[in-house]
Amino acid sequence: MIILAIETSCDETSMALVEDGKNIIELVTHTQIDTFKKYGGVVPELSSRMHVKSLPLVYQELFSRVDFTINDVDHIAVTAGPGLIGSLLSGISFAKSLSLIHQKKLLAVNHLQAHIAAINIEHEIEFPILTLVVSGGHTELVYVESFTKYTKIGSTLDDAAGESFDKVARILNIGYPGGPEIEKYAQSGETTYEFPLPKTENEFDFSFSGIKSAAFNLNNQMAMKKIEINKNDFAASFQAKIIEILITKLKSASLRYPTKQIAIVGGVSANKALTKAAKKSFDNVIVPKIDYCTDNAAMVGVRAYFLAKEEKFQNIDFNAKVNLTIEDEI
Ligand code: KG4
Ligand code: ZN
Repeated sequence: MIILAIETSCDETSMALVEDGKNIIELVTHTQIDTFKKYGGVVPELSSRMHVKSLPLVYQELFSRVDFTINDVDHIAVTAGPGLIGSLLSGISFAKSLSLIHQKKLLAVNHLQAHIAAINIEHEIEFPILTLVVSGGHTELVYVESFTKYTKIGSTLDDAAGESFDKVARILNIGYPGGPEIEKYAQSGETTYEFPLPKTENEFDFSFSGIKSAAFNLNNQMAMKKIEINKNDFAASFQAKIIEILITKLKSASLRYPTKQIAIVGGVSANKALTKAAKKSFDNVIVPKIDYCTDNAAMVGVRAYFLAKEEKFQNIDFNAKVNLTIEDEI
């Protein structure tokens, strides 16, 4: 089964051809990051207009790289949420047009479930699998019993981990998106700055807003005292604290929910220091290849394959769902 998958939930316009939920025939992603660097974050209205422009170009590029056509595609899949409404609608409208013109069935994919599906691309999965989803919008611990059954066991009460990387990078004025920049600076830094360890009522929940405030206050205090901040050390200290929190929570969740494999997915799983720490703590950690960690359509095509096997096709009038949770069906 060949699925043409489309992802436009935030600032990447991505399309992939995916065979049988595993083989990525081709993946093309056009990122809007360069545009949003100057704003220090995504401007939603601008993002949706850029998707509208990029979608036909990405589509052309995708098919120019392979030796078959849309006629060889079985179904069309698109991310339906969660995400930015305008960005989601750009991808959904494009998918609906293709479906009408070429008479293909439509599959609507939950973006969070797609991040988890990315583990299927290069690994043999043994369910159940405890998964940490860490992205720009979400930080969640999920007990995954199959690619169609998800139970959320904890999540962030305020900022997402990726969001805190982005905000601290803005405080340090080191660029956007913050995660890869913080990681770069941290490589030649020491953990000399102190950040608080957050406490949550449910041991599997997360909170990152206290660390963000601490970073903000520390930066202000240093500025007032005219002491220059060591950006490398600051980045290293901040990153180490985030990793400590993520690994500690993952460890306690793994005691309550023992599984053969543990997965870390989403944009923040691109962080090498995080995956190194995870591999030290657990014997069997699965992290997608970097292209499949940050937003991409390959993972959407994988998730969609399992929807197609259950015959969960959509009518043409399905809509975007901005606040979809990991457990929701569309
Ligand atoms: O999954 P993703 O591409 O988009 C969402 O669904 O949110 O995640 C983007 C987030 C951003 O906050 C970005 O700063 C973070 O992932 N990120 C990283 C790294 N690469 C991307 N965070 C830490 N280290 C990285 N290397
Ligand atoms: Zn994402």
